[in-house]
Amino acid sequence: MRKFLFTCLLCTLCVPAVAEERPGLTYTDPYMVTLNPANEMNIIWLTKEPCEGVVEYGTTPDMGSFAKAVGYELKGMRTSATPEGYDPVPEKNPELPVYQLIAKLGNLKPGTVVYYKATTKKGDKSESGKRFFFKTAPEKGKDFDFALVSDMQLKVKTKETLYFLGMQHKDFILFAGDLANTPWKAGEWFDVTGCYQAPGEDDRTFFEAFQQDDSNCQLMQYMPVFYCAGNHEVDDQRVSTEKAFATDDSKWSWSIYMQLFRPLYPEQEYGVGGRRWYSANYGDLHITSINVHRWQAWDGFEAPGWITKDDISPASKQVKWLKEDLEKSDAKYKWVLMHWHMLNRGEDGYTHVSDPVIDKKDPTKVAYPAGDYCYDVLRPLFEQYGVNAVNYGHSHVYERYLVNGVNYIEAASIGNNYRGTNDPYHFSGVQPVIEANDFRTFMLVHVGKNGMTAAGMQASLEDNKIGYIGRVIDTFTVAEAK
Ligand SMILES: [Fe+2]
Ligand SMILES: [Fe+2]
Repeated sequence: MRKFLFTCLLCTLCVPAVAEERPGLTYTDPYMVTLNPANEMNIIWLTKEPCEGVVEYGTTPDMGSFAKAVGYELKGMRTSATPEGYDPVPEKNPELPVYQLIAKLGNLKPGTVVYYKATTKKGDKSESGKRFFFKTAPEKGKDFDFALVSDMQLKVKTKETLYFLGMQHKDFILFAGDLANTPWKAGEWFDVTGCYQAPGEDDRTFFEAFQQDDSNCQLMQYMPVFYCAGNHEVDDQRVSTEKAFATDDSKWSWSIYMQLFRPLYPEQEYGVGGRRWYSANYGDLHITSINVHRWQAWDGFEAPGWITKDDISPASKQVKWLKEDLEKSDAKYKWVLMHWHMLNRGEDGYTHVSDPVIDKKDPTKVAYPAGDYCYDVLRPLFEQYGVNAVNYGHSHVYERYLVNGVNYIEAASIGNNYRGTNDPYHFSGVQPVIEANDFRTFMLVHVGKNGMTAAGMQASLEDNKIGYIGRVIDTFTVAEAK
């Protein structure tokens, strides 16, 4: 949904108008998350005012069952105060009332197609959306397919890549974080009348790109998505650029991300120390989502150093939970979803993920005597408990590493690419099995009789004319355990 106002006073100047929001009561189509994909699905949508909602659903196109939605206020989104651009101080921008409806469909049977249609009511107004469908997770031993996506952030070609992905008709998506750039900016999620959007970004908001629904494209309305938070899911991004904010725990909050996907985070603990991890079983696959990320705009060895929230030190709550979660799972395959690119090339990899300690001789410098918690704490757990793959994002590249039987995959170049030709390798010296950054990509995974098979797929033909769209550029197989 967009509108361009071409003033053309000087023939070459095109002035983008403010966004035009979708008509009616809703800001979005339905989207889905679940912690029990074989038996339950949460149908979620956003509305402009407090409304009532109901979802009609059933295993035939006639449907016939009904689930009433529970209403919530989604707090914290704001519109721009000026047409010229956003004020960087969130409080100076007007708060946008956003409401959320969540209908939980329960008692579903595994491996079943469920049709559904959401209806929104306000007074004498009633609006019904299109009838969509999704598939519940199968029982153990049955086939299924999924895709990896990451780092949308309104990047240039996300819409085209997601459209191509939507044509693959998978059963679910693993999304490795960085959904938008700045969560409090409503105009990054959906169009709002009068809300400024950067030129060129007004037709690729998160929901517009991820809810494309042309004849053959099936995305968020047709399948659950399992997310983890990235550094861009922190409400106020000044924690990444201003040291006074970074060092103040009260400035760190993940409230908008956690409200959007409320059923994944039932405790709704938004601040530092809150629970931002979960797991779910999908057929033979155990999916574990953890919260690992950081980002600062200054040198990693300059005080106060790079600050990692959502602790992953050996004795942390998150690591204790991760160990128990992996240990008690008897799933045939195990997959971990996290944002931080724990083996990737690039400057980030040279600053360890652990607590910085101020240098006694030079207080402007820091060191990381505790080592790297990703490599030294998470990696051994993945190896000990038989994790087959870990996928992440953040560098917006396609790379896969194989270390002691665990695949580490970044399939995050769906919209742009941040790989520099001279980027250093990870401090461990581990080098990727493959790097493919001349085009956009995503990964598709099939679980079936012959094990778990993954394929990196080329999703664009760039000016360099390398390859072709749909080309498989990388594969790995995890044989079925006997
Ligand atoms: Fe990113
Ligand atoms: Fe990131």
